[in-house]
Amino acid sequence: MRILSGVQSSGRLHIGNYYGALRQFVQMQDEGEAYYFIANLHALTTVRDPKLAEELTREAAMAYLSLGLDPKKAVLFRQSDVKEVLELNWILGTVVPHAHLERAHSYKDKIAKGISPDFGLFAYPVLMAADILLYSADFVPVGKDQIQHIEFARDWAVKFNVTYVPGYDPQDSEGKEKGHAPGILKLPAARVQESTAVVPGVDGQKMSKSYGNTIELFGDEKEIKKRIMGIKTDSTAVEAPKPTENAPLYDLLKLMLPESRFPEVDASWRAGGKGYGEYKKLLLEAYHDTFGPARKRYEELKRDPAELERILQDGAERARAEASRLMQRVRRAVGIP
Ligand code: ADP
Ligand code: TRP
Repeated sequence: MRILSGVQSSGRLHIGNYYGALRQFVQMQDEGEAYYFIANLHALTTVRDPKLAEELTREAAMAYLSLGLDPKKAVLFRQSDVKEVLELNWILGTVVPHAHLERAHSYKDKIAKGISPDFGLFAYPVLMAADILLYSADFVPVGKDQIQHIEFARDWAVKFNVTYVPGYDPQDSEGKEKGHAPGILKLPAARVQESTAVVPGVDGQKMSKSYGNTIELFGDEKEIKKRIMGIKTDSTAVEAPKPTENAPLYDLLKLMLPESRFPEVDASWRAGGKGYGEYKKLLLEAYHDTFGPARKRYEELKRDPAELERILQDGAERARAEASRLMQRVRRAVGIP
């Protein structure tokens, strides 16, 4: 079983990214052959500062590694290090219906926010499909917002196979029945981690780098403290029971406290008698207990950029071997020497 996923290096990673994506990726490295990459080409649709683009790419790689990704088990690489993805991006684009891209949620959301779209943003799902199909991934762990992109990748893989693979039957994509040929592009499936609800930010909205409400994973210690102490709370009196709805502090405690400790905190929250300040201190402690070891590894990696580069080069080499095999078949199928 091959698992593949990417994170866009378009901002500093926060705990929403961890609980919604990275944690799952790291766990899955034991379930199959895992390919994880830093989507630094996708990031160019929003990051226009070359120094920052490079920095964020390295930071995302260090984040994966410090959170437990083992480069001996999983293949970790930079998207831009495997140029084959750009070739597949183009070839795939020739079978992508324009109408699909026009109804992409991510694109429509950005237009609705008044962002004036460039070609890169419009074509974003095609490159993402190429990312997935290039490595014949079976499963793609993603957040809910990315499901449509995986469905597109499936549709376009079918369309490519129907167009270019003689004997391919879309009802029998693996070509199991007699007389059928398997597709060249394998159909991927999304793996959504249902149990992780949306992680709230310090203001109670969805935690997102675009809302400025994040608690960073590897940010400055003082800033983390400031953010946690500034979590939005209501005016419930110290003695009174605290509401558990629309309470980001409560949700974050539930997420970050060890399972064995949460019930006791939950009970005191519901009983009243403690002020929000105390719970914030508790959350800060839980943050350091949860992420302290990873933060330490992150600092070590930061001091050894050559080692990081070596890991990424090794990953790129392994990814390229896979990519070049698939591209040979794709080129032959479409008639490119
Ligand atoms: P952001 O919203 O900060 O721009 P991204 O869109 O880059 O984050 O998300 C990267 C990954 O992290 C996606 O898989 C997304 O589903 C997950 N993710 C981001 N924010 C949250 C959140 N608040 N709760 C749960 N998962 C999240
Ligand atoms: N679009 C994804 C996100 O924003 C990142 C991504 C790019 C990706 N290519 C991918 C995820 C391929 C999974 C597979 O989260």
